[in-house]
Amino acid sequence: MSDLSLASLIAGKPIKIEKDGRTICVARVGDEVFAIDDTCSHSDASLSEGEVTDFKIECWLHGAEFDLRTGEALTPPAVAPIKVYPVIVDGDSVTVDA
Ligand code: FES
Repeated sequence: MSDLSLASLIAGKPIKIEKDGRTICVARVGDEVFAIDDTCSHSDASLSEGEVTDFKIECWLHGAEFDLRTGEALTPPAVAPIKVYPVIVDGDSVTVDA
């Protein structure tokens, strides 16, 4: 069963979902969809409230940026990567493999 519909995801407006006890940030970039752990690796902030630019998401609290494709921390103050989850897009159906 899918978690979301592609049409419900607006590029640049990440959302937060709960799946199997995990809180996951889902972000659409063009027709691609990325899923990462919602909690910033720097402190306790929700990345789904951050800003998406290209393939980067910026934490709203202290401004660390992460690569949505790899979870890599790109700018301080975060240094640890974020866990990424595979996403399957099939037509309008989006499934996060958490
Ligand atoms: S909590 Fe995200 S950068 Fe500090």
